[in-house]
Order: sequence, then C-alpha cells, then structure tokens
Amino acid sequence: MNTELKSLFKRIKSACMKTGSFSNSVPVFGSGPVPSALMIVGEAPGREETREGLPFVGKAGKFLIAVLKEVFGKGREGFYITNVVKVWPTVETKRVKTRKPLKEEEEFFIPYLKKEIEIVAPKVIIAVGKTAFSALAPDKEFRPGEWSDYGGGILLMPVYHPSYLLRKQKTLPENTKRLKEALRKVRKKVS
Ligand code: URA
Repeated sequence: MNTELKSLFKRIKSACMKTGSFSNSVPVFGSGPVPSALMIVGEAPGREETREGLPFVGKAGKFLIAVLKEVFGKGREGFYITNVVKVWPTVETKRVKTRKPLKEEEEFFIPYLKKEIEIVAPKVIIAVGKTAFSALAPDKEFRPGEWSDYGGGILLMPVYHPSYLLRKQKTLPENTKRLKEALRKVRKKVS
C-alpha cells in the first residue's frame, strides 16, 4: 500500500480511538490503486463493509460496482473507492441498525478525506449521494448527473446513492439508465 496512505489510515485510526465515540466499531478505509484517475466517495460503511473491511461490498455497493463494471469495463479493483465517514454509524436497538452519519461525524472525517484526495490525486471524483457531495462541495447544489467541481482542477460528478435507487424499485430502470449516462460522461474524462 502507498506509504502516505498507510500513515493517514494510522492517524485516522488513532484519532477515532481517542474520541471514544467510534471505539465500538473498526474503521473501514479506502481501497484501490494510487494514484487513480477516478475516485469514488460514498457516505459511510455499513454492516457488510465493516465485516469485510472494504467499502461498497454490501447490497448497494454491489449494485454500484456492477454498473461501474458495465460502463468502464472494470470492477472495484480499477478505481480508488472510499467513504466520507470511515466508521459504521449505528443505532443500538435489539439488533444493531444503520443510521445516517451525524453532521459532527462528517466534520470529524472531512479533513482526512481531503488529505486522502491529495494522495490519490484523481481527475474526477464521483460523489455517491448527498452526504458525499455536500462534504466535497458544501456550497453547491446536489444535481445528480451534472458536472460540478471540487477545486484544484478536479471534477466532481454527483450521483444518487445506490441505496436510494434500490429503495425505489418502480423507477429503478429509469434511474439506472441515468446513472449509466452520468458514468459515461465520467468515462470520457478519465480515459
Ligand atoms: N457502502 C459504502 O461503503 N458506502 C456507501 O455510501 C454505501 C455503501
């Protein structure tokens, strides 16, 4: 693994342990080639991601990776994939459930994400869902499929979160078509 990234992950892990707020869950870090022309940033890991120690391996992640494979001709090993929040946000009921990350959790991780972007040096970042987009472009409106920019010459493409798409089964075919259109625009920039 890239040594800068390795030391960043070490710093994140110890910062998480120090706060005490994340001590019941193991952080899930980014994975993929470094540098990478394309970087994918999601919201936060869930149950499966935490179990496997990899982002986007649950149901929503598998759906997104399958669509990426169709458009780019390569799967998860072809891109650098990470999340804004590196720890599974949960609610403790009878069974541990996933919740949306809190604003302060996002804010805790954003400086580390920025450093991660510097190391990965992408041409394009795909912001998966509103949380990821607002972490990367806080003053911009979330317009899935339309170009935005992150700064420093890096383009930003927001897309709907796959969990949201999968929840709306009726409109899934149309929404998947739109997602592929957005990804084709990205493909033109990174190939
Ligand atoms: N899996 C992730 O790692 N992140 C998401 O945002 C969704 C699924």
